[in-house]
Amino acid sequence: MTDTAPTKTLWLGRWGFVLAATGSSVGLGNIWKFPYMTGEYGGGAFVLVYLLCIAAIGVPVMMAEIALGRRGRGSPVDAIRRVARESGRSGLWSAFGWMAMLCGFMVLSFYVVVAGWSVSYLWKAVTGGLQADSVDGMAAIFTQNNANPWNLGFWSTLVTIATMAIVGKGVQAGIERSVRWMMPGLVVMLAIMIVYALFSGGFGAGFHFLFAFDPQKLTGPAVLAAMGHAFFTLSLASGAILTYGAYLPAQQSIGRTTLTVALCDTLVALMAGLAIFPVIFANGMDPASGPGLIFMSLPLAFAQMPFGGVVEVVFFLMLAVAALTSAISMIEATVAWLNQSHGIARRRAAWGVGIVLWLVSTLAMLSFNVGADWTLAGKTVFDWLDFLTSRLMMPLGGLGTALLAGFVLRREVVREELGLPSGAFALWQFVIRYVSPLAILVVFLDALGWLGAGFDLRWVAAILLVALIGEIALGRATQRQAS
Ligand code: PHE
Repeated sequence: MTDTAPTKTLWLGRWGFVLAATGSSVGLGNIWKFPYMTGEYGGGAFVLVYLLCIAAIGVPVMMAEIALGRRGRGSPVDAIRRVARESGRSGLWSAFGWMAMLCGFMVLSFYVVVAGWSVSYLWKAVTGGLQADSVDGMAAIFTQNNANPWNLGFWSTLVTIATMAIVGKGVQAGIERSVRWMMPGLVVMLAIMIVYALFSGGFGAGFHFLFAFDPQKLTGPAVLAAMGHAFFTLSLASGAILTYGAYLPAQQSIGRTTLTVALCDTLVALMAGLAIFPVIFANGMDPASGPGLIFMSLPLAFAQMPFGGVVEVVFFLMLAVAALTSAISMIEATVAWLNQSHGIARRRAAWGVGIVLWLVSTLAMLSFNVGADWTLAGKTVFDWLDFLTSRLMMPLGGLGTALLAGFVLRREVVREELGLPSGAFALWQFVIRYVSPLAILVVFLDALGWLGAGFDLRWVAAILLVALIGEIALGRATQRQAS
């Protein structure tokens, strides 16, 4: 296959990448998914594993992805092929780029449905359509909103059009220009929400649920879900961060930008949890109510609080904006690939992809009404898209990224791209070579039931220790050789 030329497009502003990447990672994953998963998996134990995964897997893998993107200067497929070949390795490693692109596309096809819920609730909030005085009443509004495919389809189509319009305009005039005002807007709305939540009382119950650690709740499925969610919330292994990294100017620090993005993302998730759980408990709702959780609980709480009507509008506007800045990042990889490797004009590529996306997302949308019983192994199309991406493709893609950056690429190349001081680089490399892959593998095998009851985590510690000693010995040897 012939190589395409590296892209020359760069973010215009100093904050271009940070705004876009934070926009990508802060989204429905933080405000919608994190609370309902925490509810489903029992609270504190899930949160703890999630935080560990962000630190031990998410941050190092994100650094690796940005480095791959910037070094390869292209869509995931092109960038990975280019960097693998530069290090004298097979271009077939780009298979991970294909998987990432497919993953981003699949995520977006169910994401637009949830984003559609958010926009439809924004509309309801503005027009006074969210009036009910009980949890059951709110649940009925949610069910009703889903029941009519024309209604639901209208809102998800709207989101699809908005996403494609922005991406079609290009990296600078579309994506960067839109995040430049959407992200500050998001911060302001979030600040309003936090101040409001602080004064609404009931913080204690939510705090306890999120942070009280009960080891008994640390089940296998919970651990796997927490890892999958760490990937999802940081937009990893889906082409988003890698492609945005391809536009990152050479002089910007990958380490610092990654920490900024990961920190913002984690804070927003925890704050969303702190704002939502008190409401759930105060109203006797079941925290394990699933994907409808915030849509059923929050409007009820707003209805009972002073200025609730206004704040409700702010909240759903915030949700819609957060969703849009994430949605555009999911499809940028595919559009960039069509544009760079196939010479298709960006606008045309965006609308073409948009049509295919619309078809798949319509199937996902129908999962909530006429297609509710089109199930396989008990999962609807919507559930499958979610499950396949965050539970399988993302961890697998993360493993691929770690192997690529840890072993496949030449050390000097990675080192140069990351630009870390030597101690920090050694630490990063150890984590990306051993800690992240091993953690992903263990969680994976455990989920498949292959580790069995006799499995002892001390084995993992032992392997890591051997690896550490090996690395130190090897490092010494190479140093001696060099001098
Ligand atoms: N990180 C986004 C969120 O939390 C979702 C996302 C996944 C975005 C994959 C881009 C790629 O909502």
